Amino acid sequence: MPSLTHGRPLNLQRWLAQHSHRLEPPVGNLQVWKDADFIVTAVGGPNERSDFHDDPLEEFFYQLVGDAYLLLCDRGRYERVELREGDIFLLPPHVLHSPQRPMRDSRCLVIERQRPPGLLDAFQWHCAHCGNLVMRHELQLSDIVADLPATFKRFYASSDAERTCKQCGSLHPGRAHEAWHRMLLASGRLPASG
Ligand SMILES: [Fe+2]
Repeated sequence: MPSLTHGRPLNLQRWLAQHSHRLEPPVGNLQVWKDADFIVTAVGGPNERSDFHDDPLEEFFYQLVGDAYLLLCDRGRYERVELREGDIFLLPPHVLHSPQRPMRDSRCLVIERQRPPGLLDAFQWHCAHCGNLVMRHELQLSDIVADLPATFKRFYASSDAERTCKQCGSLHPGRAHEAWHRMLLASGRLPASG
């Protein structure tokens, strides 16, 4: 086959099948192309998250296989955006979001842009009981797959005192993401999903 200056298209279904072992927990995401302005990432389920990502740029979601949802947090008000198989969704910059992927072997294509120097991302953790901000870590994101674990580790290493909500006194359970989601459901702060 003659070589092409800019390479050939890849067949996404085949690529996903070839990389399925990289799309399993605990990492679950893999970048398709390196060194491009578009960061195209395949994400597999299940995942375990209670953090909210503050991306300074837009994010595009294409739920390829299985269902998932985005938990949004706007000044302490929670919302649930269903990502059903086949759905696409464009998330505006700085909308705090927590992708929830409970289904094993689900697949989502996420497209983000490289962050110019000085444009910071942040990860936030919020009180499930009242929505108040518990902790925020900012970072200059350069590698979307490699940079996240250190940020999460910092949060998991925090003390109970640091994770206690200054507004209502509830303790954020830290790494115990299931406990956090149970607290959120019990709080009644999450409107029924449509
Ligand atoms: Fe609280």
